[in-house]
Amino acid sequence: MTLAAEPQHTPPPLPHWDETPDDLGAAIRAIKPALRARIEASGRTVAEVFAAAERRIEARIEEIEADRARGEQVWPVLDYDAISSGTVTPEELAKLARRGCLVVRGHFPREQALAWDADIVDYVERNEFFENYTGPGDDFFGSVGSKPEIYPVYWSKAQMQARQSERMSTVQSFLNSLWRHTSEDGTRWFDPDRDALYPDRIRRRPPGTDSAGLGTHCDPGTLDLWMTQEYQKAFRHVFDGSVESYDPWDAAHRTTGPQYPGTTMCSAFRTFQGWTALSDMDADQGVLHTVPIPEIMAYLLLRPLLPDVPEDSMCGVRTNQVFPVTKRWHPALYRALSPIPDVRAGDSVWWHCDMIHSVAPVENQQGWGNVMYIPAAPWCDRNERYADEVRTAFLTGSSPSDFPAEHYERTWNGRFTLDDLNDTGRRGLGLA
Ligand SMILES: [Fe+2]
Repeated sequence: MTLAAEPQHTPPPLPHWDETPDDLGAAIRAIKPALRARIEASGRTVAEVFAAAERRIEARIEEIEADRARGEQVWPVLDYDAISSGTVTPEELAKLARRGCLVVRGHFPREQALAWDADIVDYVERNEFFENYTGPGDDFFGSVGSKPEIYPVYWSKAQMQARQSERMSTVQSFLNSLWRHTSEDGTRWFDPDRDALYPDRIRRRPPGTDSAGLGTHCDPGTLDLWMTQEYQKAFRHVFDGSVESYDPWDAAHRTTGPQYPGTTMCSAFRTFQGWTALSDMDADQGVLHTVPIPEIMAYLLLRPLLPDVPEDSMCGVRTNQVFPVTKRWHPALYRALSPIPDVRAGDSVWWHCDMIHSVAPVENQQGWGNVMYIPAAPWCDRNERYADEVRTAFLTGSSPSDFPAEHYERTWNGRFTLDDLNDTGRRGLGLA
């Protein structure tokens, strides 16, 4: 732990741990009073600041409930053609910024998406994946079941063609442009027009599946969100009593700092998490839900500072597991939990990196539920560091270092190769 020296007139400094603290309980017991003292130096109590954050969230929840009551779609939906031709209206942009999530209709032609799905089946069958599959390699998605719904496959032609496609870049640049990527002092936190091609897996969930789904959680970090110096700067308005000024679209200090390692971590900075549908999926078939409120992190970070939470608890957040959101600590948020609309193969789905999400349970699923996980991970310090790992994994067909070391594809035929890269692919892997 280090304690930065600060001039007398500034708020009290925060202790910070840029590597996972050895004693998590002691670190939590140290950071909570320090955060309270810093907030109270603003002249407001923690309760007042939390109430301000809660009012902001409550207003959003009421808007969502009102939309739903009017029969309006909670999730913003845009046609790919409107994005690519620059004809998204100011009203549509405002809704997107307010909700922080999006379905892109016709992101890829339906026939293209179905052909990619068939290519993946051919790729895994040709390489006898099912004969050699040894079970889930992690405990999080592994809880879904013993059948391989999540395929630890990263380097198929289908995935890489989508990642380096012009249509993918167009949507990623559009989404990145919602963020403030350059500060007033000229610091550029990320390049909105260069994506780091974050390699992730695919999901193929067959008809008839019973699935327990995944509980509500968020993915941007764990205790590091309170404890590392860069995140303390990123969430400076949450921690200094000026929570009204907190802007979830400000990238300052989000793209530079370390993260605490863990099996569920994402080394990359993602402006949006996302996936591309490779099958049609109806909204009642165990699909993704979000709490579509991008500024939710201010609320989640302040909640453990209230007196009803035990002094060694951050409302259940620990390292090496996803950030849980629970009815015990966050009951009001469940009113806003909203499913994606029905999607068709070739549509894509996006949500702000901080947002709470879940996958609903399903019994006897109708139709397939197939997706390629492809986020928006623009070029920045953090993603450039991880690109070294990605490049090595790509060249050897290995599982990327954020994922279990399963390495199925090392010996597979038909992998996407160096010669298949276009300019976008080369730039994304840092090979340009
Ligand atoms: Fe997640």
